[in-house]
Amino acid sequence: MTALNRVQVHKAVFLMLVVLVQGDTQVGCVFGGSCVLPCRFQPNSDTILHWNKIFKTDRKKLEVHSYYDDQDQLGYQDPLYKGRTSLFHDQISGGNASLRLARVNLQDQGRYLCYASTSLNSQEAFVTLTVRAPDPAAVARVDIVLVNNTVTCKSGGIYPRPQLTWSVSPRPATVLKNTTKVHIDDKGLYDISSLTTVYNDTESTYSCSVQNEHSGRKATLRLRSPMQSAPKSEVLLPCEASGLDDITWTFNHNQTILRRQAGQEKVVETEWQQHVRDLSESGSLLLYVTSSAQSEGTYRCTLRYADEEDVTHIELKILEDPIAGRLSVNIQRQSVMLNLLWSERATLSNNT
Ligand SMILES: *[C@@H]1O[C@H](CO)[C@@H](O)[C@H](O)[C@H]1NC(C)=O
Ligand SMILES: *[C@@H]1O[C@H](CO)[C@@H](O)[C@H](O)[C@H]1NC(C)=O
Ligand SMILES: *[C@@H]1O[C@H](CO)[C@@H](O)[C@H](O)[C@H]1NC(C)=O
Ligand SMILES: *[C@@H]1O[C@H](CO)[C@@H](O)[C@H](O)[C@H]1NC(C)=O
Ligand SMILES: *[C@@H]1O[C@H](CO)[C@@H](O)[C@H](O)[C@H]1NC(C)=O
Repeated sequence: MTALNRVQVHKAVFLMLVVLVQGDTQVGCVFGGSCVLPCRFQPNSDTILHWNKIFKTDRKKLEVHSYYDDQDQLGYQDPLYKGRTSLFHDQISGGNASLRLARVNLQDQGRYLCYASTSLNSQEAFVTLTVRAPDPAAVARVDIVLVNNTVTCKSGGIYPRPQLTWSVSPRPATVLKNTTKVHIDDKGLYDISSLTTVYNDTESTYSCSVQNEHSGRKATLRLRSPMQSAPKSEVLLPCEASGLDDITWTFNHNQTILRRQAGQEKVVETEWQQHVRDLSESGSLLLYVTSSAQSEGTYRCTLRYADEEDVTHIELKILEDPIAGRLSVNIQRQSVMLNLLWSERATLSNNT
């Protein structure tokens, strides 16, 4: 036996001792989620990896995942594990044989054997997997948006399984066509989303409630009639808040225009400072419109309460045509005046 071989044999014996001493690695996986069964081996060439589920009572074992000739070998994989297992391929050469198991179910509980063999030696490690339920997770937020004539309501990170219900006015929700999808994420928590098509009523309200045994939230979308404005003029975008509401105005869904938290001054985003003329007590936004390229789009006023969101949705169209534009400026001015008067009166009567 050469010196090198002796070293290798010693190493192999040492590794086997380590395995024996270490005992099983315990892994707790969340039901429905993904989980990593850890396994390390001393890397060398000609790697062969086998993950098996083993049973105490008989000698039965299930083939969970195999790898050799530098690729997955799933021909003999037990159907119970089909499409749910993967190795970290880029880390195998570094001695990482860990197995990722997705959509964990109760049947996955038990003892697993990780067998790794290289041109140097073969090694074994055991992992015991237990399955537990996720901790309860409350409905933290519900998002509701209108895009392309479809209202979408979404929430996620919830446990146990939530329910989603729509209510619509002025028409009854029962005639709505809706599709609700539920999905379980990597942590075993539920994501839920639902779509419904929009009626062509000029103004309507869509409410979506997401709840489970422990918590619930509601999001309401108020569709306002589309508004028009000329370039280089002011337009008042209505919202119905009180000074105590947490209010956010956004443009085209993902750009924040401004935010005002209960009892505080409004904070206007830098790029909107030249456009925002005023924010009334009731949350209506007096906006200076520049051009259609810059100002045309969807404006949303979102009010956030302890367990609900209330969104006002307004499409603003900018008329570049000079004649139509001038006409609209006049109409718009009058309507701005009226609206301001109206909101002042509303504020006054609220205060008395
Ligand atoms: C193997 O690699 C994965 C992915 O980077 C990592 O999450 C895991 O902890 C590694 N396992 C071991 C035992 O090194
Ligand atoms: C909305 O419709 C436009 C044009 O038909 C399309 O480009 C866009 O991807 C659609 N958006 C969504 C969210 O479906
Ligand atoms: C939505 O669809 C489901 C099944 O398609 C139905 O039971 C429900 O009543 C519908 N309406 C609402 C408002 O959720
Ligand atoms: C919207 O409603 C009007 C009046 O009821 C009707 O004439 C029109 O066809 C409707 N449009 C669509 C797209 O349903
Ligand atoms: C908003 O979304 C659009 C596409 O949906 C993207 O092109 C744009 O970069 C986003 N803007 C921000 C501020 O995230």
